[in-house]
Amino acid sequence: MQFFANFKMNHTRASTTAYIEQLESELSGVAIESVSVFPPATALQKGSNRVVVGAQNGYFEQSGAYTGEIGLEQLQEFEIDTILIGHSERREIFGESQEFIAKKYAYYKEQGFHIVYCIGEPLSLREQGEDALFEYLYSQFDGIDTNYEKLTIAYEPIWAIGTGVSATVADIELVHKRLKEKFDAPLLYGGSVKVDSIEQIAAIESVDGVLVGSASLNAKEFAALIKRGLGV
Ligand code: 13P
Repeated sequence: MQFFANFKMNHTRASTTAYIEQLESELSGVAIESVSVFPPATALQKGSNRVVVGAQNGYFEQSGAYTGEIGLEQLQEFEIDTILIGHSERREIFGESQEFIAKKYAYYKEQGFHIVYCIGEPLSLREQGEDALFEYLYSQFDGIDTNYEKLTIAYEPIWAIGTGVSATVADIELVHKRLKEKFDAPLLYGGSVKVDSIEQIAAIESVDGVLVGSASLNAKEFAALIKRGLGV
């Protein structure tokens, strides 16, 4: 099982450093495949022994006249080589189009980054039935090289993000099964994963890991979630 923490616009540099230290200590002696943390851009820093630090975002240039953005140069300063691309909040709130996302993807692939690529549908699509649902989800792979060996896919239904209501096991299985048939990449689930729901979610065969928002913000709580997910 792989565990990913998306801090979104939470935590500072100081609190992220303290978090990583605490997570390391909480997880000492726990055999774990991988744990990664995505802090905000101002808190980017080198990872620790077992905690990988990744970026929530990055523009598809080394550096240049791109006000408000960070690019490869800013990521390399901290030896960051993991990036989140396609998150629904970037798509919906910041208006990132599929074409724009595909450019980011191609750039960071070219740089050899480990890419956690997010897809997910709004509730209105879910309610339209399976054909519409999968047509929508597959359209989020337009322009994306899904054979990239450092790709991890994260399925995050928008209606389950930040709502406290995770998708059910059946909801997750429905989508994950089809994605697994189509793509070889490891597959994460995200959307209101909590310490109380992780056991159920981790037990799903097609779930290789989880991408956690609010339940990752406290290091002790995230460590507890990881341990439950691993059954230790
Ligand atoms: P929550 O766990 O807060 O629902 O967030 C999920 C998410 O969007 C992770 O990227």
